[in-house]
Amino acid sequence: MRYVFRRRENDKKPFLLAGAPPTTCLHHYIKSSSTVREKTGRISLATAKITDGQGTMEALVCEKLGDPATAIGEGSPIVLRKNHPVPPLDSPTAVRVRVKATSLNFANYLQVLGKYQEKPPLPFIPGSDYAGVVDAVGSGVSLFKVGDHVCSFAALGSFAQFIVADQSELYLVPKECDLVAAAALPVAFGTSHIALVHRAQLGPGQVLLVLGAAGGVGLSAVQIGKIRGAIVIAVARGEEKIQLLRSMGVDHVVDSTKEGVTVSVKNFLKSRKLKGVDVLYDPVGGKLTKESLKLLNWGAQILVIGFASGEIPLIPANIALVKNWTVHGLYWGSYKIHRPPVLEDSLKELLSWMARGLITIHISHTYSLSEASLAFAAIKERKAIGKVMITIDDASHSRSKL
Ligand SMILES: NC(=O)c1ccc[n+]([C@@H]2O[C@H](COP(=O)([O-])OP(=O)(O)OC[C@H]3O[C@@H](n4cnc5c(N)ncnc54)[C@H](OP(=O)(O)O)[C@@H]3O)[C@@H](O)[C@H]2O)c1
Repeated sequence: MRYVFRRRENDKKPFLLAGAPPTTCLHHYIKSSSTVREKTGRISLATAKITDGQGTMEALVCEKLGDPATAIGEGSPIVLRKNHPVPPLDSPTAVRVRVKATSLNFANYLQVLGKYQEKPPLPFIPGSDYAGVVDAVGSGVSLFKVGDHVCSFAALGSFAQFIVADQSELYLVPKECDLVAAAALPVAFGTSHIALVHRAQLGPGQVLLVLGAAGGVGLSAVQIGKIRGAIVIAVARGEEKIQLLRSMGVDHVVDSTKEGVTVSVKNFLKSRKLKGVDVLYDPVGGKLTKESLKLLNWGAQILVIGFASGEIPLIPANIALVKNWTVHGLYWGSYKIHRPPVLEDSLKELLSWMARGLITIHISHTYSLSEASLAFAAIKERKAIGKVMITIDDASHSRSKL
């Protein structure tokens, strides 16, 4: 197992990012503290200058905790540095990737707010899953060559033009797959795949209820549910999200702005002569979870994925006992430490599904690094449908939908 340490200029001891998946952000940590803070404001996207890891690149740096949806230069906790050091190859098996695209996950937003379970020391470069092109390889790299398309995820560090990872942490993206889509895959689809396939072992004919179904993890759960042959019920808010879910072949969609979840789902179940929900996929929590528990079958499984509502739900143990429920807490990133083969197999299967067109990555908003505050705002304001992405060095993708 590899650990992630950080040593700032004035620190006596390296800091261990407790529980964080192995990552290569060490360079970002070390270098960012010794870099002179850039002035914020209007920023032009310059191409990175690179000479064997000695060059500079653009990177978003979180310098204080706060709301990253605040415009950069107007008190935002994140700044865009144009002259951040390019991370060097730190071991013979290290690979440097020129990042093409990186995902914005709800967790990235929570982390800059200071409300996520992993609390890295400041300053840090946020960002987790990404895809790009291999830019340089260490002398012992046998699995990749310069020019290969790869994707991966790190505990931190992907909101930058370059990132370094060990070759064991990278996945080859088939040439037929879009790199921006591949960057959206690891966290969202990885979480839903391990939850539904590995943990719940969802099977044909089972009833799956997905909350927050048009969000990043929700939309992936819906698709994986359909692939597994489940009867999928989705809960989301607003016409645009509802239409998209219907177009994906979801069996029943509840618009929670218009109807009560319990009544709507009960009517649907009755119309299909079904007793209840077998698997609850819950990235939302709060009131919605409480309502959903009323719909669960004997022997149902509850997948606790997240708390987008901000409220951690209570699942009464007495009812779990009487109804023989199984509650699965699921923290996808920790599989990298505790069950790496499960995570690897899962991501490889997802990439093969993507190459075969079995899953589609829906991206509602795409921004450049300098527009990151808008990307965070899309997540905060519940505008995201599927994924929000940041693309780098690509003018054609650097246009927001808003
Ligand atoms: N356990 C893990 O390993 C893991 C991995 C990835 C994500 N997560 C967690 O899963 C949750 C969702 O992540 P995501 O990336 O899918 O986020 P997302 O794309 O923003 O989706 C969240 C969805 O939750 C719904 N929601 C309900 N109440 C909300 C509220 N008060 N504020 C914001 N959204 C609300 C929204 O749907 P409507 O507006 O349609 O209601 C939204 O589409 C987060 O808590 C995240 O930390 C956990």
